[in-house]
Amino acid sequence: MTFKEAIQEGIPASLPSNNSIDPTVSHAPVRNMQGVLTSDEEVLALENALRYFPSEWHDNLAPEFYQELKDYGRIYMHRFRPQYDMYARSIEEYPSKSKQAAAIMLMIHNNLDPLVAKHPHELITYGGNGAVFQNWAQYRLCMQYLSEMTDEQTLVLYSGHPMGLFPSHAKAPRVVVTNGMMIPNYSKKEDWNKYNALGVTSYGQMTAGSFMYIGPQGIVHGTTITLLNAGRLNGLQDLHGEIFVTSGLGGMSGAQALAAIICGCVGVISEVDQDSVDQRIADGYILADNVYQDIPALLDRIAKAQKEKEAIALVHHGNIVELWEAFADSDLNIALGSDQTSLHNIDDMGYCPIGYSFDEAKELLLEDKAKFNDEIRKTLCRHVEAINKLSDRGMYFWDYGNAFLKEAGVANANIWKDESKGLFRYPSYVEDIMGPMCFDYGFGPFRWVCASGELDDLAITDKIAGDVLEEIAVEAPEEIQEQLSDNINWIRKAGVNIPVVGSKSRILYADAVGRIRIALAFNKALKDGKLKGPIVLGRDHHDVSGTDSPYRETANIYDGSRYTADMAIHNVIGDSFRGATWVSIHNGGGVGWGEVINGGFGMYIDGSDVSEEHIRSMLHWDVNNGIARRNWARNPHAISTIKRAMEEDQRLKVTIPQLADSKRLEEIVNGSK
Ligand SMILES: NC(=O)c1ccc[n+]([C@@H]2O[C@H](COP(=O)([O-])OP(=O)(O)OC[C@H]3O[C@@H](n4cnc5c(N)ncnc54)[C@H](O)[C@@H]3O)[C@@H](O)[C@H]2O)c1
Repeated sequence: MTFKEAIQEGIPASLPSNNSIDPTVSHAPVRNMQGVLTSDEEVLALENALRYFPSEWHDNLAPEFYQELKDYGRIYMHRFRPQYDMYARSIEEYPSKSKQAAAIMLMIHNNLDPLVAKHPHELITYGGNGAVFQNWAQYRLCMQYLSEMTDEQTLVLYSGHPMGLFPSHAKAPRVVVTNGMMIPNYSKKEDWNKYNALGVTSYGQMTAGSFMYIGPQGIVHGTTITLLNAGRLNGLQDLHGEIFVTSGLGGMSGAQALAAIICGCVGVISEVDQDSVDQRIADGYILADNVYQDIPALLDRIAKAQKEKEAIALVHHGNIVELWEAFADSDLNIALGSDQTSLHNIDDMGYCPIGYSFDEAKELLLEDKAKFNDEIRKTLCRHVEAINKLSDRGMYFWDYGNAFLKEAGVANANIWKDESKGLFRYPSYVEDIMGPMCFDYGFGPFRWVCASGELDDLAITDKIAGDVLEEIAVEAPEEIQEQLSDNINWIRKAGVNIPVVGSKSRILYADAVGRIRIALAFNKALKDGKLKGPIVLGRDHHDVSGTDSPYRETANIYDGSRYTADMAIHNVIGDSFRGATWVSIHNGGGVGWGEVINGGFGMYIDGSDVSEEHIRSMLHWDVNNGIARRNWARNPHAISTIKRAMEEDQRLKVTIPQLADSKRLEEIVNGSK
């Protein structure tokens, strides 16, 4: 059977032989199912899984699926994992009646590529639970639908389940994705475990469930920007000779190593899981020679690197808390610190307790959940204690959107500045850095993928993007010059600095003007035949407008509305009728189920006038919606940015807040008591 036939096949006509578990790829943690499903619900989970298959297979499949449920806590349907290699091919290699649909297939494959995805055989791209689909039947059906759909149809995906193709029209999105949308009262962490096990909802994380993850590169850039700005915030314009300490070499956190090198500092990253260390060595993000288990030897190496101002990523293979405690007892001067363990996924091995190897901790979680929780709590308290000591000595520490502060608070760690007001000792990186320095100006993680799969196309688009940003910088206001120059530096060196993993893609932070002008320049290059294949535009959900998340993307919204999700919902609706090729809206994401609503899009452009219209209309809304909201929350940079946008397009009319004298209001309120 050819690759095209295998895609078109969907659910196979005859029962395929079972796939054994492949020990060469990393597998999702076994989900803890103690007391989660009643036996009636286990029956329901099986019934739900079997509805994808002809009834004559059920006797065969039911015991097998039940075994998967018992062994892994989920029914992944391993038997149905296709035999072809999973990676993003050139768009021309996909069977399709719609090029837009072919572009989506390419993006799905990229998100399931074993070089890109963390647990590819469980269809999980990153973050421990960020799923593209729940099981292989959904994947197969979805690919079949995409291969046969036309530009007069829209595919509807409910948490990975392809509900089907519905008649629509050429200007409609080809795919509409929802992941994990729950009735709010059923959106607690334990609800995910139950309803995901039943096969009726899934955790799409942010870019995983919207097929827009482009490997650690996507996050290398964001991390570089964060690190540079964290330094600036603390008076460090040059990070050479400065030490940055953090944890995690996983799907996103792995980017920290490369970002540290790009920023010129001594990055020290702790990672407890051998698999993650190996994956980053294979990616070229870290060097095997720079991995240490012996902490005293590592401290000596750090001191040498600091003295010689080396730009280097040194890795501690062990628990981050051991490392922090060693630093607290040393006389090393740590300038910057953060954490990127998967604390958003604390119940499911996102955070390893001290004193246990990663495998021992997995066993403990399965055998004695109460003890596991207790060990986690104690570890978090020690973690915070060590950070507090270093912070008292001048280190700037920030929460990297992984629910560190939240979980440390729950663990009763010494993390509060004022618990009665819910104020932590440390800021979230969006509160201090990304929010005021990037998002409020509209700068966010714009990205593109060259659907030809050609590196030449990527080099051409890099050049175009760099040229456009340089043109913009000539006339841009002073307040965004630093952002522009960071991104010009980035894109000019990206081809050299960034090993391409998976699809031929690129990220850069741009504001509305930048995104639109870069995309228009790509469209013109396509029209002029300068690129070999179409381009897919997109962004991380972690952006100006797409995400409502009170402890992360909207952490610097102070008018009380950070607990609302109107912006993310409006964003995805607005994108869908302004030219997005696909749209997605998720519950969950990096800070946990029930803690965030986030949305994204993908846009196929091919050099046509229609593509030009989509770029102008949708990208404008996709950024300015969030600026308008940030402006209404009285964020000063957003007020000036939206006023500038209104001057540029007279059709834009946004409500501007009147600023009250808060001191006077306090007098009125307190005076009357
Ligand atoms: N990089 C970013 O820009 C960014 C932005 C927002 C949020 N985040 C958050 O960062 C977290 C990490 O994301 P990810 O995709 O890398 O997750 P991941 O699960 O792939 O990686 C986390 C890594 O931390 C390691 N780890 C866990 N406990 C540890 C411990 N005690 N000591 C040392 N290592 C430990 C794990 O082994 C794992 O490899 C998530 O919560 C994510 O939402 C990252």
